[in-house]
Amino acid sequence: MSTFADLLQFRMQPRTFYITNIGRLYYDEEGLTAPLKGASMSQLPFIESAWLLIENGKFHSWGSMSLFPETSISAHDATNGWVIPAWCDSHTHLVYAGSRENEFVARINGLTYEEIAQQGGGIINSALRLRNTTEDQLYDSALIRLHEIIQFGTGAVEIKSGYGLDLESELKMLRVIRRLKSATNCEIRSNFLAAHAVPPEYKGRQDDYVNHIINDMLPKVVEEGLADFIDVFCDRGFFTQGNTEKILSAGMKYGLRGKIHANELDYSGGVQAGVKYGALSVDHLECVGEAEITALLNSQTISTVLPSTSFFLKLPYAPARKMIDAGLPLSLATDYNPGSSPSGRMSFILSLACIHMNMLPEEAVNAATINGACAMGVEMEFGSIAKNKFANCLITQPLENLAYIPYSFGSDLVKKVILKGEMQ
Ligand code: NIG
Ligand code: FE
Repeated sequence: MSTFADLLQFRMQPRTFYITNIGRLYYDEEGLTAPLKGASMSQLPFIESAWLLIENGKFHSWGSMSLFPETSISAHDATNGWVIPAWCDSHTHLVYAGSRENEFVARINGLTYEEIAQQGGGIINSALRLRNTTEDQLYDSALIRLHEIIQFGTGAVEIKSGYGLDLESELKMLRVIRRLKSATNCEIRSNFLAAHAVPPEYKGRQDDYVNHIINDMLPKVVEEGLADFIDVFCDRGFFTQGNTEKILSAGMKYGLRGKIHANELDYSGGVQAGVKYGALSVDHLECVGEAEITALLNSQTISTVLPSTSFFLKLPYAPARKMIDAGLPLSLATDYNPGSSPSGRMSFILSLACIHMNMLPEEAVNAATINGACAMGVEMEFGSIAKNKFANCLITQPLENLAYIPYSFGSDLVKKVILKGEMQ
């Protein structure tokens, strides 16, 4: 019978093998550790008819099949399928209790997302359900979602709290995320989002709730080491720019960098607040004009766009084309959550980015891999097929060209997912 120690040992065994007969291999010779910006986002080098060596769970080397070395190391035959980096989904809320298809139907009947929120639905609806859900129940349902996105090809994911909105329930969510971190080979970062909505017990008292977050919740979250980042939903009807800056500044004192929700529903000042406090990313960005682009150009903040939220809520799409043409680094993520984007399928995000935001397929792949890795702080080890990065990659079915991935928006082209050198 295997003991836990045996299983641990098994997981830690060297994962060393070749992938052979790769139709096309998208590799990164330089070992990128910074986001691609502007015109460089369309650069995606590849070689055809290739092999790739994975050693101890990391990428080791690659070359042409015509020069495949004599070896006793085992090989996996890609049968002409393509090898691309696994997706890095830098913005999700995949820990939640219950779905919200009732609101989906309410929107069909004419209500907007904001009207539903004002009537006590939306995030508050999810929070009330989560408060009545045990940590184990939350963990079990989130693990199912995590396994699902791994099968879609996601190898690194950021997960937020924000459906607890009180100390105990936020800690419960963050503890679930901590448990998820060691449950699979998918790399996870956690984000503390108590400032997602003002809970009913603080209705009409946003400033008091913000003080509660800063004085009571944040120290506990930090004490337990539960968060990698701090988040605020800075938007019309949610948190003000002033309160966003207060929370970002408090987070900085504990060494937590912001990754915030900004400018989804309005020109909220969220982008400027994020830039001012050195946020790693500002996300959503449906409402972005010249002032926001200028602020971002003079910053270290990555722009993350979430096109499935625009799709699902019928909002305008973020002006991604304009932002890339202005020279910004852009990343793409799913926003997987029960209210505005109940899907964690990254390949669909690429399709939406190409169809509705005029991003080129190469730009979309970079936005969903290396730039996504940068937007969640894992770029040193993930995000591209580079020597010494973790072996996170996908083997697709044989393809004619890259555009086929976003073009065939309903098909599943991923035949194998390899994370940290293990077949999933
Ligand atoms: O990113 N915009 C704020 N938060 C989530 C939606 C959360 C919800 O509706 O449950 C988002 O879209
Ligand atoms: Fe979100």
